[in-house]
Amino acid sequence: MSPFGGWGTLAAFLALLCCRGSGEEQFEVPMEPNHLLVGSGEFQVINFTASCTDPKKLVLETALHKTFLEDQAQWKLFKVISISKNMELMCSFICGGKEGMKVFNITLFYPPKQVLLTLSHTSVAVGTLFTIECMVPAVAPLEGLTVTLLRGTEILYNQTFVGTARFPQDAVVTHHTTAHREDGHHNFSCEAQMDLRSRGGGLVHRVSDPQRLEVKEPVPNNQMVTIITIVIMLLILFVTFVLLCRHRLRTSNT
Ligand SMILES: *[C@@H]1O[C@H](CO)[C@@H](O)[C@H](O)[C@H]1NC(C)=O
Ligand SMILES: *[C@@H]1O[C@H](CO)[C@@H](O)[C@H](O)[C@H]1NC(C)=O
Ligand SMILES: *[C@@H]1O[C@H](CO)[C@@H](O)[C@H](O)[C@H]1NC(C)=O
Ligand SMILES: *[C@@H]1O[C@H](CO)[C@@H](O)[C@H](O)[C@H]1NC(C)=O
Repeated sequence: MSPFGGWGTLAAFLALLCCRGSGEEQFEVPMEPNHLLVGSGEFQVINFTASCTDPKKLVLETALHKTFLEDQAQWKLFKVISISKNMELMCSFICGGKEGMKVFNITLFYPPKQVLLTLSHTSVAVGTLFTIECMVPAVAPLEGLTVTLLRGTEILYNQTFVGTARFPQDAVVTHHTTAHREDGHHNFSCEAQMDLRSRGGGLVHRVSDPQRLEVKEPVPNNQMVTIITIVIMLLILFVTFVLLCRHRLRTSNT
């Protein structure tokens, strides 16, 4: 017998120990948090998979309204509705006589549901200052939200927000600009995009209703208008005066 033979037997024995050990440990299931990002008021489908291949009693423990969708030996699919706050959902199962558990850590987000675009004027003269305001009400987290102001398909301005607050807040973007002739030929619109892909979520995209801006040629300035008005009025006064004098002269002559 070679010395390696002895080592081999020992290694095999150790391997057996190890594998039997790990085989048993497989049933002592650690808590495995699963982070789920759920849109406020939306439902969530949860695929709850046990750690062993032949679990008994797969149970989703929640007071929320849940619907069983489908299952196979190792997993069960549930639909959970009316999730209205951040919470933990727990699933329990029995593997090899021991209870295991899985926790789903649910974080709510508030996707952009509305995008409201307001132009400070409906009608402006070329060269006049006007303001474009876009509001996205009640969104959270602000982080990952980009609001883009568009003229036709051209980007006028964009802003990416920061902030990890969980409660919904209004995101407002304001842009001051002067009116150009071509502003009258395109619609203005505002686009909100919430990108939660880095946090395990998706991409939500929403666009405002288009808004028109009527752009007029510049009108003669106010001073000019005032001067012309005064001149016309003086002229009328003068003519009236002259006519009155003539009339008086005539009546005094007769
Ligand atoms: C649920 O998850 C298990 C394990 O990840 C997978 O094999 C199964 O296909 C999933 N079921 C559905 C319906 O997605
Ligand atoms: C779930 O998330 C909250 C907030 O991030 C955290 O405090 C909590 O420990 C998490 N729970 C698990 C099981 O990961
Ligand atoms: C924001 O605008 C800049 C140009 O002003 C552009 O390069 C960038 O791609 C825009 N970002 C988004 C998210 O649209
Ligand atoms: C602007 O939007 C209106 C709808 O509100 C649409 O009828 C019109 O064709 C659009 N005009 C341009 C130039 O895209």
